[in-house]
Amino acid sequence: KITDVHARQILDSRGNPTVEVEVTAETETTGKKITARESVPSGASTGRFEAIELRDGDKDYFGLGVQKAVDHVNTKIREMLLGMNVLEQAKLDRAMVELDGTDNKGNLGANAILGVSLACAKTAAKALDMPLYRYLGGTNAKTLPVPMMNVINGGVHAKNTLDFQEFMIMPVGARGFSQALKMGAEVYHFLRQILNENGMSTAVGDEGGFAPDFKNTGEAFSYLSKAVEKAGYRVGEDIVYAMDAAASELYDEARGVYVFSGESKGNGEEQEIARSSEEMIAMYEELVQQFPIVSIEDGLFEDDWEGWQKLTKRLGDKVQLVGDDLFVTNPKRIQCGIKLGAANAVLVKVNQIGTVTESLNAIEMAKSAGYHTVISHRSGETEDAFIADLAVAVNAGQIKTGAPCRAERTSKYNQLLRIEEELAEDAVFVPEEITEKQKA
Ligand code: PGA
Ligand code: ZN
Repeated sequence: KITDVHARQILDSRGNPTVEVEVTAETETTGKKITARESVPSGASTGRFEAIELRDGDKDYFGLGVQKAVDHVNTKIREMLLGMNVLEQAKLDRAMVELDGTDNKGNLGANAILGVSLACAKTAAKALDMPLYRYLGGTNAKTLPVPMMNVINGGVHAKNTLDFQEFMIMPVGARGFSQALKMGAEVYHFLRQILNENGMSTAVGDEGGFAPDFKNTGEAFSYLSKAVEKAGYRVGEDIVYAMDAAASELYDEARGVYVFSGESKGNGEEQEIARSSEEMIAMYEELVQQFPIVSIEDGLFEDDWEGWQKLTKRLGDKVQLVGDDLFVTNPKRIQCGIKLGAANAVLVKVNQIGTVTESLNAIEMAKSAGYHTVISHRSGETEDAFIADLAVAVNAGQIKTGAPCRAERTSKYNQLLRIEEELAEDAVFVPEEITEKQKA
């Protein structure tokens, strides 16, 4: 039985306020009290259709305070949940969704609801004396995800000339998660060395990847290849690439074009560089031929279903096409994508939808349609590692949680090391699922 729910305002990795929640439950038989704590992440390149993150909008923290969301947890949500069974996740989540009463959680705030939802799951696992991944996923939770490590940052996550947001490495040649992490970290360090040697900045962006001024996308990938080779790995065999274009951020809706302002600056050109949807697809086709890119996220604008259909027809049998802003972890939008044949993978961010139950539903829907799933952090994170357990719980197969540096990113990778150790021989690691398209 839940005996207390308490929220407070803390800071995230960007120094902005976010919600942290503690849920306490008492076991009926022994009267023992159990408390667990979770906090809520926050995006910068947020999708238009995400659940609403409630911000105070007053003078504190430039309007970014979350005191209202905290108050909703400490009053209305607390009152409703007191006495309820913490093991009934679906019921707790449904009660909060109903109490909110809107489609987008705009009343109580998705940040308020998610904080409670996550903390309930963690308290429940603790009450049953079970690892979180086991509680969420049951006896079949065993797959360690292949990490997508974001080692070069651009877009709205850095103030450099890169228009695309994320350039990631995936160590598919690894035999297990710890080896994959080691390979990724080694490449990351060689990348720093090479950038240094070339007089380029090694300052990092929001997700811990380097953020120098590259001339264009191709140059960023070329540097990745240099680093992979220097680390002694084979480009395209041991290490493959993934990217997040975050194209909604580049899209000019009025003109229907994608504007590459960084690229014009990087090339010292006065003239604006803009691409149509068709030119974007052609650009991806060319990049995929030049570099071993196995996954492209948000290649097109979040509401261009037609464009996404075309993109999927043209590239879907070679590359994983991940919908992030397109799907916003929302079962309704995923359903629409499946029907239309738009994308072939879903990015899962728990705060886009706002409860554990709805996130699990989104994952189940994606999987039953044969879509891949990638569990993801946000650019604004905390030290909590809930998504590491979630990735193993649902056998997602892939996780995207930044560079192998900075504590808010490594907390997830480190938790996966612990889980791998605990599962020992029962741990499964299947990079073949990612490379099978590329090889076909
Ligand atoms: P965000 O970026 O957390 O700033 O939205 C991550 C992503 O786009 O995948
Ligand atoms: Zn994204």
